[in-house]
Formats: sequence, C-alpha cells, structure tokens
Amino acid sequence: MADIDFTNKNTIVGRSQEDIAKYKEDGTAYIGKVVMSSGENPVLGRKVLMDVSRPHVVLVCGKRGGGKSYSLGVLIEEFARLSPELKKRISVIVIDMVGIFWTLKIPSKQEKDLLEWGLTPQGLDVQILVPKGKLDFYREKQIPVDGPLTLRAGELDITEWMALFRYTWHDTEAVLLGRVIEDLKEKMGVRFGIEEVISAVELDPESDSLTKQALKNRLEMAAQWGLLEKEGTKIKDIAQGGKITVIDVSAYRQAIGMEGTKDIIVGLIGKKLFEERMLYRKEEEMRLMKGLGRESSMPIVWMMIDEAHMFMPKDEPNIALNVLLEWVRVGRQPGWSLVLATQRPNKLHPDAISQCDIFISHRMTAQDDIMAVSQLRPSYMHGDFDKVYAEMPKGKGYALLLDDNAESIYTIKTRPRLTWDGGVTANAFTK
Ligand SMILES: Nc1ncnc2c1ncn2[C@@H]1O[C@H](COP(=O)(O)OP(=O)(O)OP(=O)(O)O)[C@@H](O)[C@H]1O
Ligand SMILES: [Mg+2]
Repeated sequence: MADIDFTNKNTIVGRSQEDIAKYKEDGTAYIGKVVMSSGENPVLGRKVLMDVSRPHVVLVCGKRGGGKSYSLGVLIEEFARLSPELKKRISVIVIDMVGIFWTLKIPSKQEKDLLEWGLTPQGLDVQILVPKGKLDFYREKQIPVDGPLTLRAGELDITEWMALFRYTWHDTEAVLLGRVIEDLKEKMGVRFGIEEVISAVELDPESDSLTKQALKNRLEMAAQWGLLEKEGTKIKDIAQGGKITVIDVSAYRQAIGMEGTKDIIVGLIGKKLFEERMLYRKEEEMRLMKGLGRESSMPIVWMMIDEAHMFMPKDEPNIALNVLLEWVRVGRQPGWSLVLATQRPNKLHPDAISQCDIFISHRMTAQDDIMAVSQLRPSYMHGDFDKVYAEMPKGKGYALLLDDNAESIYTIKTRPRLTWDGGVTANAFTK
C-alpha cells in the first residue's frame, strides 16, 4: 500500500516543510478547521493542526467573549492527547486568571456538536493548584483541586518581596523589609519561612513601631494566604513531562495589600524554569555529543497565560515582564514556548507581539488593538486587518490564523471542546 500523503489532507501550521516530511502529523494539535467560503455559516474544510513539538510563541487575541480562553482550552486538551512518547517530553503550565480551567477534568455534555466533528467528550488528567489558604474553600465547593501552590520564601529576592506588596524604595516598610531579608539570607540561606520574617521585623532595632506594624500586617496577610513557605512547591512537581498543571491565581484578584501576588508567581516560576531548563539543556547536549538519544529529566515547557497583558504590560513595570520577555526572545534554544492570550494587544508589550510566530485572532473591533497587531501584517497578507475582521463570521470560534513558518494565512473555526467549558458567559437566568 502506498504511503498516505497527509500534507495534502490537513493543514499543518508552525512546522517547516522538512519537519512535515519527517514527522507528518505527529506532535501536532488539532485546533480547528479551515473556513472555505464566506457568509455567516461558511463551509469548513481541512483540519488545522498546529505543531507543538518545537518552541513557538503563540499570540491569541480577540475582543471580550471572542473565544480566547476557549481556544486555550482546546490547545490544552490537545497536549493531553499527544502520543505517550511525545507527551512525556512536554510539560504544560497554565496560568488561570479567572478560575475556569479546572473544568478540563470534566467531560463536555455537548456530545452532538462533538460528533459532527468526529470527536467524543473526554475529561483530562490535569493537576489543579490553588492558593493554600483557599484549599478548604475549593474543597467545600467540591471543586476537584489537587493541592496548593506555595513559593519558597527564601528564594524571593528583595525586589520580588517589594513587588508582592507593591512597595517602592520610598516606603519605609520596604527599607525595613530589605534589611530583614538580607539578614535572614545571611544567617539561614534559603531555609526560612514567613514566620521568621515576622519575628525578625519585630526584633528590628532601627525601625519605628508604626513601620513595623504596617509591615507586619502585610506579612500576616501573606501568611494567611499560605503563599510563602519554608519549602515551597518544587519546580519539578510543576514542570514534569506529560503533566498539565493549572495554577489558579484567580483568588488573588481579591488579595488587597498583596496585589503583586500573581506577578510574583509567574515571575518566580518563569525564573526557576529558566535556570533549570538551561542546566538540563546542557545535559541533553552532552548526551547528543556522546551519540545517545535526546532525553533528559527536564521536559520542554509550554506556558500558557490568559490575560497576558497583565504580566507583560507595555508601559508599566512588572516583575514577571523581564522573565517572560526572555522566554520570548531566547526560548527557541532551551525549548520554551509561550501561549499568550489577550483582549488588549494594545496594552501588551510590543516584543510579545512582534516575536510571535503563530497568531490566532478572534474578532477585534477596538481600533487601537487592531493597530497594535497591524505591525504583524506580513507581506504575504494582502489587505488590512480591518477588512479581515469585518469579513470574519460573527459566530463563536472563528479566527484569523497567521503562520509565519509557512508564511500562510487562514480563517479558521476552532473545534468544540472535549471538556466542560468553564468560560460560559454569565447569565441571570437559572435555567
Ligand atoms: N469555538 C467555540 N465554539 C463554541 N463556543 C465557543 C467557542 N469559542 C468560544 N465559545 C463561547 O463563547 C463564550 C466566550 O468565550 P471565551 O470565554 O473563550 O471568550 P474570551 O475571549 O476568553 O473572553 P474574555 O476576554 O472575556 O476572557 C463562551 O461562552 C464560550 O463557551
Ligand atoms: Mg477569557
């Protein structure tokens, strides 16, 4: 029997011709189908498969309710469906800003829609981590969470402590905190928790009692959230081959006085992964030099960030920004991928836009956001973004897809979710 030429059948994006010839459809994510005609109910054609075996920077845009989180959900599902050999080399970390991705564990009830696409509902094995202080709350609500995410207090440097509480050097509390942390690090290395920081603040001989009390209040609040601990969650429990970890930071939206918490989580995890991955990449290189296979205990990492403009803002400082920009700029070599979803590309750092090699954009209407992504308009795209958005069907899930690797452009429709969609728009009716 002759080999089937898959390249004629489905559209593979993000992959070179060479890789397509070599790997065919292995290591791709089925994200949707190509739109073949115009109008509100267009004909759908070939499947769109996105390469996930190599590092990419994927930008997902679209106005509010446009389907960005849904599309992220589809992509996460696809990682769970990879072949076991590939899966064990890839680790997925999802930063969940709204607390909607725990529903990935639950199969979808939309059997009919899925059947039309030749798919069946499926619940996924994902690891959901939530703030330690909220664990009981989630469990009482019978939300299936797997455990807490905690950070090792001793690993935060002073700029990170300051970012956590949004302090600047003008704040006397920051000066006190800086002195205390430096002292603790000198005496205890990285092995101290928040209780030790509180005790050290109390004992500080130089500060006035008002400053001490103000800082103590902040630290006690942080202790209640259970974010900082002596040990902290190990990075290898988060980034493990074959594992999909959802870090639900939605609760921290209400963490008054600790507004920087989400940024610290992303910044610190990003930084740790960066350091560890660099080490392991060297180990891989050594194996290859010795003629051994490509294998190391550190998988390649896909980090997915919903509402990415919050961590990579254009004109504000953010503790996570530099780490993420580094991922964007040099991620190819160590094997980091980023999927950034945003409603406001105009607020996103321009490097995150210009460095993306796969652009998935649901409808956008705000002119400044369309302008922000216009810098991407490649020579192979004829016409303006305005026109593309105006002609895009208004139904859910349609998107423009730019693939810089193959210099191609498509209108696609995202496939339906296999898992329960946690992002369904709120509605005042109960039925
Ligand atoms: N491909 C799709 N098929 C069916 N329904 C979809 C699809 N994409 C999105 N939806 C539905 O559209 C609604 C909004 O989608 P989603 O939450 O993904 O939007 P969003 O772009 O993330 O919005 P926001 O900016 O508010 O976060 C949800 O109710 C979701 O179920
Ligand atoms: Mg969303």
